[in-house]
Amino acid sequence: MSQYQAVKGTKDIFPEESAQWKYVESVVHTLASLYGFNEIRIPVFEYTELFQRGIGSTTDIVGKEMFSFQPDPQGRSVTLRPEMTAGVMRAVLQHNLFSSAPVHKLYYIGELFRKERPQAGRQRQFSQFGAELLGVSSPAAVAEVITLMMHVFESLGLKGLKLRINTLGNTEERFRYREALQAYFAPFNEVLDDASKDRLEKNPLRILDSKNPALKELIAGAPRLYDFLNDASLQDFEKVLFYLSERHIPYEIDHRLVRGLDYYCHTAFEVTSSELGAQDAIGGGGRYDSLARELGSSSDVPASGFAVGMERLLITMEKQGLLASLNHPVPLVFVVVQQQELADHALAIAWRLRKAGISTEMDLAARSMKAQMREANRMKAAYALFIGANEYTTGSYSLKNLVSSEQQIFSLEALLEFLHESATKEVVD
Ligand code: HAM
Repeated sequence: MSQYQAVKGTKDIFPEESAQWKYVESVVHTLASLYGFNEIRIPVFEYTELFQRGIGSTTDIVGKEMFSFQPDPQGRSVTLRPEMTAGVMRAVLQHNLFSSAPVHKLYYIGELFRKERPQAGRQRQFSQFGAELLGVSSPAAVAEVITLMMHVFESLGLKGLKLRINTLGNTEERFRYREALQAYFAPFNEVLDDASKDRLEKNPLRILDSKNPALKELIAGAPRLYDFLNDASLQDFEKVLFYLSERHIPYEIDHRLVRGLDYYCHTAFEVTSSELGAQDAIGGGGRYDSLARELGSSSDVPASGFAVGMERLLITMEKQGLLASLNHPVPLVFVVVQQQELADHALAIAWRLRKAGISTEMDLAARSMKAQMREANRMKAAYALFIGANEYTTGSYSLKNLVSSEQQIFSLEALLEFLHESATKEVVD
């Protein structure tokens, strides 16, 4: 065993699991482009202020979960990205993308870093895929990102996920609600835990998100933001719900749903899986019109988006038996060397096959023929190609089908043609 272990809260992904990741990623790429989203890749670290301004300095993420450091002794602090939305908006504003088109539909798959206490489904390095629709302020836009997210879940075959949705209104409505919450919780200062006392001052909405069972009843009796909304905000929310119903996307309105990031307004949503235990949120998002202004833009940029945690998605898929049939690729041909003096010739043949697009494996450790055959079977190769003195001198090669044990002799040219056809057939099948 190595004396080094992976850092707590990180995970190695081995080939079998990689195949599962690639499968999910391919569904994400296909569906994102079906809905007209294009991929964006942004840096893994950004200046720390971006997240302080963007996510909000009173949030848990900014307050205690960021990996920040100073690359230069006198330089500005930078932070490993704890989420993608702020970075995507920064990139779009920095490169002035709105001067070329009024709407940008972007998606991403990437690693994030949060200094949380690691547990099942909660890591310090994790991955998300997500999408951001920038430049449109209609309920149709937020409905579109929710629909894309739910479409991905459906395509992967996931069942029993719960979409909870709420509206957080506009800034003014939230301000009045904040005051009402402070007035409601203030007399219970003795009952509140330390975290909630702190939130009461800085960000009372976040008390609603408390997992403390002792506060459950108190929170249930708190005023609802919904009752502070004007007609325009209510109609906006109703329209989002209308689109979801029309698309047969079941949802549950949850008036207590507040998200862990401060940039949201109007619609906010979260998807949970009962398969996940304590960390049951598989994805979430909402509308965030004022993020651009927080980042220095002269005006709001209406925007909506979502992100889904890849690890939690894969845990749920695993529990629902949706990963069982995923195999990693197997070689079509295993080149078997009968006499080691011919190893270089065998290598040349393997190279020819690979150049012709035929997946080929070979033993590079000069092991016995028996060991090579064992390896070919272990890898589940479809064919074994024998390289012996006879093949070398006559230029005809013996190919064995490892399922039927049928053996055929080919010239090199005919062999390439036959294997090429088999490879194409395999891909089609
Ligand atoms: P979030 O709710 O913070 O939203 O994260 C989205 C998802 O990332 C969570 O539902 C969860 O599945 C996964 N996740 C978060 N933290 C961890 C962790 N420590 N370990 C494993 N998985 C984790 C956002 O990040 C927003 N940027 C979403 C968004 C996009 N809003 C608008 N656009």
